[in-house]
Amino acid sequence: ERRYDFRGEHQAGITTPAQDRMHFAAFDMDPRASREDLVALLQDWTSAAERMTDGRGAGSLGPLSGPYDAPPDDTGEAIDLPPAGLTITFGFGSSLFGGEGSGKDRFGLAARRPAALERLPHFPGDNLRQQLSDGDLCIQACSDDPQVAVHAVRNLTRIAMGRAHLRWSQLGFGRTSSTSDAQSTPRNLFGFKDGTMGLRGEETDAIDEHVWVSSGADPRAEWMTGGSYLVARKIAMRIEPWDRSSLREQERVVGRTKAEGAPLSGGTEFSQPDFAVKGRGGQPMLALGSHVGIAHPSHNDGVRLLRRGYNYVDGNDEMGRLAAGLFFIAFVTDPRTHYIPMQTKMSRDDLMQEYVQHVGSGLFAVPPGAQGDRYVGQGLF
Ligand code: HEM
Repeated sequence: ERRYDFRGEHQAGITTPAQDRMHFAAFDMDPRASREDLVALLQDWTSAAERMTDGRGAGSLGPLSGPYDAPPDDTGEAIDLPPAGLTITFGFGSSLFGGEGSGKDRFGLAARRPAALERLPHFPGDNLRQQLSDGDLCIQACSDDPQVAVHAVRNLTRIAMGRAHLRWSQLGFGRTSSTSDAQSTPRNLFGFKDGTMGLRGEETDAIDEHVWVSSGADPRAEWMTGGSYLVARKIAMRIEPWDRSSLREQERVVGRTKAEGAPLSGGTEFSQPDFAVKGRGGQPMLALGSHVGIAHPSHNDGVRLLRRGYNYVDGNDEMGRLAAGLFFIAFVTDPRTHYIPMQTKMSRDDLMQEYVQHVGSGLFAVPPGAQGDRYVGQGLF
């Protein structure tokens, strides 16, 4: 049975092995909430998250044994369920810090806003919905049991009542990454292996370089040391055109074989792509405009991403098309070096752009883990 510690140097849910299900939620603070309310909310969230991660109810009384005439301090749908590897990861959006468009510095945090925490720019082809984007706070809950992940977000939302409210949320099934050497490579809804070249928790030097924020990185935001930045992108897939494209076209777009996930330049799944290998017509076997060609570290100043996304299907639209895609999540040391340049290039040149559309977006500062008896994000206050 899988169980992770909520407390630690870093928050769980980043380098811990990606579970199979996700419930992601973004919140806004209530208009009248004060700085004290925000602190109290983070304290309450910390204790509830620690309990639920451990397989206990959200509150100390539990779903069944509180006063008969009061609402229970846990909603009950996880009674008898093990945590199934539950992790709960908290983040702060730029709007929490005031300034930058939103004007008022309601919580007195503007002076401590990390320079890296700004709304992501508009990328070519973006079709973002306001109701699927941004937010003052976020929670990523992952578990191998969807009911456990939903239970966590539901109870944290309930606890926030009167202080913060849900802005948008997303369910995901089927991880599209591996964050541990012990995991096999899953497939995304295009049917391709996904996560082959993702950063693994075991690569501690590379994780320090590409994921965690190091001390001194931003003098205004020392409180982020040991934290990371969470990039969330809801990416709709044009499933029907994709399903009518040939296998040749699909492999050309991705730059890998569908069967094994090997680069089109040859080898097996974990072989490095070789962009110099030419085919019969003198054309590169592995197109520079393929997804792998765009995203490979050799074309991005050595940048590697810890991807931790999920497949999603939100039923269908009014035209009878599957409302499906990939809820992309990446944890990066700095979005200005590790996400914005790659996405800019991808939105412009990636052959895959024809089959996807970005509809939601968020960037969140994920503080380090809460250690001892501290609450998550305490270093900010
Ligand atoms: C690699 C699919 C969006 C960054 C891959 C691979 C697939 C894939 C099949 C090859 C296997 C692997 O190494 O994991 C998708 C799909 C997407 C999507 C279906 C959207 C619907 C993105 C976005 C980014 C990204 C938005 C970042 C801006 C990467 C990176 C690699 C990769 C860095 C590894 C490249 C390498 O080192 O060879 N993706 N991806 N992907 N993708 Fe994506």
